[in-house]
Amino acid sequence: MVALLRTLFGLVLAPLLVRFVVLLGRLQGHGAMRRYTRRTFLRNTVLGSVIVVLAQIAGGFVYFFWPNKTSAFGTEITVPASAIPAVGAAPYVNQAGKFYIINNEDGALALYWKCPHLGCTVPWNETEGDFHCPCHGSIYDRHGVRIAGPAPRPMDLMSMTQDASGNVIVNTGNISERSGYSPDQALKLR
Ligand code: FES
Repeated sequence: MVALLRTLFGLVLAPLLVRFVVLLGRLQGHGAMRRYTRRTFLRNTVLGSVIVVLAQIAGGFVYFFWPNKTSAFGTEITVPASAIPAVGAAPYVNQAGKFYIINNEDGALALYWKCPHLGCTVPWNETEGDFHCPCHGSIYDRHGVRIAGPAPRPMDLMSMTQDASGNVIVNTGNISERSGYSPDQALKLR
């Protein structure tokens, strides 16, 4: 994004700014203040207005597209042992970290809730006991494995560990893709 903005600035704003400065320099350097005609005045006024408008557009562009970083996503998040669901129960959901912890026979998984198809948030479907993406209908089982819909792969995994007190630490900055499920992906909780 920063690179894009730099390019935008370089292509549009910078040449105009340079031209404006050169014009001012000419006016002062050649004693042109005396020859400061109505035409020159209008030209500089229009040029200045264009620069101001473009700067406002660029500012709005930056404001609109600047990523809204949530404070927790991308960091390690500790989930208290008391919040960890029992085997076979509905998953624990962490809004700030954008993940579920689901506990199965093989162990627990931390599933990133972003759909691998086009990025929608995938909610848990309590009635069916699986995850249903509302956007294009992809369905994932309790291991996050796609069982229907257009998604190209299972839900992504976040790495996690368990401390001595039984709390689970999920690293929301360490997300990995996978092509299927194997038991070694799960963390057997104490
Ligand atoms: S974004 Fe989930 S199925 Fe398309």
